Amino acid sequence: MDYIKVIELVKQTKQIVEAPISEEQIHVKGRADFVTDRDIQVQEFIQQRLHEMYPEIGFMGEETGYFPLGEKPVWILDPIDGTTNFIKDYKQSACSLALYDGKEIVFGVIYQFFSGEIFHAVKQGGAFLNGKPIHVSGVNCLHDALVSIGTSPYHKELAEDNFRTFQELFKQSNDIRRMGSAAMDFAYVACGRHDAYLEKHLKIWDCAAGILLVKEAGGLVCGYEDGDLIPSDHMDILAVSGPTLAEEIRNVIRKNKT
Ligand code: IPD
Ligand code: CA
Ligand code: CA
Repeated sequence: MDYIKVIELVKQTKQIVEAPISEEQIHVKGRADFVTDRDIQVQEFIQQRLHEMYPEIGFMGEETGYFPLGEKPVWILDPIDGTTNFIKDYKQSACSLALYDGKEIVFGVIYQFFSGEIFHAVKQGGAFLNGKPIHVSGVNCLHDALVSIGTSPYHKELAEDNFRTFQELFKQSNDIRRMGSAAMDFAYVACGRHDAYLEKHLKIWDCAAGILLVKEAGGLVCGYEDGDLIPSDHMDILAVSGPTLAEEIRNVIRKNKT
């Protein structure tokens, strides 16, 4: 597998997202959930090129939908993570691509279209930002942490639990942030800009590359509850720079759960 070639492919999506977007090219998928023609174009471009390069590998993309992973290798793509940011010209959106080898995620790349930053990770091969090794911050207590919250915007029914938790995290930590792109949330934890990130009901394409990136950067990724993190289209995830910090955040989550 030529990961450099795959990274170069992902970088080519910049020209697609740079083209101006009009109102007619924005479509409603659900409450607060949008898709633009650019999301579809990025997905079609990457899917087609990957198929030409690696016809034996399957493909799952946000705009075609979820299926359970099995024993066959699959690319997992979120063509534009942070579509609301993209529509608002917020300059914080990324393309996130991961490779599942039939057992686990073995490669992930996250490309921030506007800063040009490329984060990538290879299973047991480390995590990198623009080709240079990165590491989580090492902050291992909530008191000293900068915590990024994901608001689960398409699940307003989670707002009460979420915001009770966020309020307590805000009080106990240094401060909180809201990025609007799950992929970039993971990337920021991986390179130490944030110390923790948590969000409920993530889809696999939001987090497949990001989970590997944080783990390969020396961080820890777990669910809200005890037990293994199972790939699905409904994942409650915590990504942190250290185990004590994870336990402290999980305690806050438990306390505020109805
Ligand atoms: C969303 C973004 C957002 C997160 C949502 C995701 P999308 O992805 O990552 O930050 O809060 O949970 O679904 O819809 O922009 O690809
Ligand atoms: Ca997403
Ligand atoms: Ca998306």
